[in-house]
Amino acid sequence: MKHLLKLLDLSKDEIIELLDLADKLKADNKAGIPHPLLKGKTLGMIFSKSSTRTRVSFETGMYQLGGNALFLSNRDLQIGRGEPVQDTARVLSRYLDGIMIRTFAQQEVEDLAKYGSIPIINGLTDFCHPCQVLADLQTVREHKGTLEVNMCYIGDGNNMANSLIVGFLKVGAHVSIACPEAYQPDSQILEFVKQYPGQFFMTDKPMEAAKDADVIFTDVWASMGQEDEKAIREKAFAGYQVNAELLSVAHEGCMVQHCLPAHRGEEITEEVFEAHADEIFDEAENRLHAQKAVLVACMK
Ligand code: CP
Ligand code: NVA
Repeated sequence: MKHLLKLLDLSKDEIIELLDLADKLKADNKAGIPHPLLKGKTLGMIFSKSSTRTRVSFETGMYQLGGNALFLSNRDLQIGRGEPVQDTARVLSRYLDGIMIRTFAQQEVEDLAKYGSIPIINGLTDFCHPCQVLADLQTVREHKGTLEVNMCYIGDGNNMANSLIVGFLKVGAHVSIACPEAYQPDSQILEFVKQYPGQFFMTDKPMEAAKDADVIFTDVWASMGQEDEKAIREKAFAGYQVNAELLSVAHEGCMVQHCLPAHRGEEITEEVFEAHADEIFDEAENRLHAQKAVLVACMK
């Protein structure tokens, strides 16, 4: 695998191989068996948005693999003052062995890959969040023993929804999503789902989507960069909360997942969040293991 730009680019086999490697790296990490597979290599991490999990898990992951990670804020890089991405890509390719980037436009990530000569990993754009969903798939497989589950997503048709739909459909899950009509997933994703007739269902009624779910995902109503829309989004998503009533129509033992950060009292109740905290923090932990697999697959 050269890059991880979006899950649309990966085959089912490539996804499963990454998950298998992530499981192995996780088990060995717990057993204290080191894998210095990226010794002497440096990952640059460009951030144009905030991050807790992505930053810390990538940095720690590189360290555990014997390499090095550089935190590069766009406030300090010349890219933040208008240096073209084409030039940044060519310069950084001369110093680094890989780049992880979190930014707004998916095009910026695609351009880094196009103009640079080193692996590029997408650490979240407005369009998608592939690293998160690899960790999500790892977590669901760990807890359920299979990926052939009923996956339900409640809320904004945002970057998380886009990646969850692609990732879960590719590995054979049944996907139901509930979102307001004005907040549906990206048109590219709605085109993609046509390849999976009978496996995808979209509604604006959360209870319909949650029926018989094995795992329910949600995400914030206003993503990074949408802070100005907070009030109007709170209104639009008022009925789209993961709460006890919603879970009552899901399968018994239904998991709840959240990429975090969570807004208790908005997209999820405090009660549901705390009842599923172990699963949610396993999901957060798996960012580390899943991304180490991505780093090895791209950079070794
Ligand atoms: N879930 C996730 O990507 O978290 P951060 O924004 O903290 O990196
Ligand atoms: N949809 C959220 C995910 C954060 C990890 C955002 O883009 O802010």
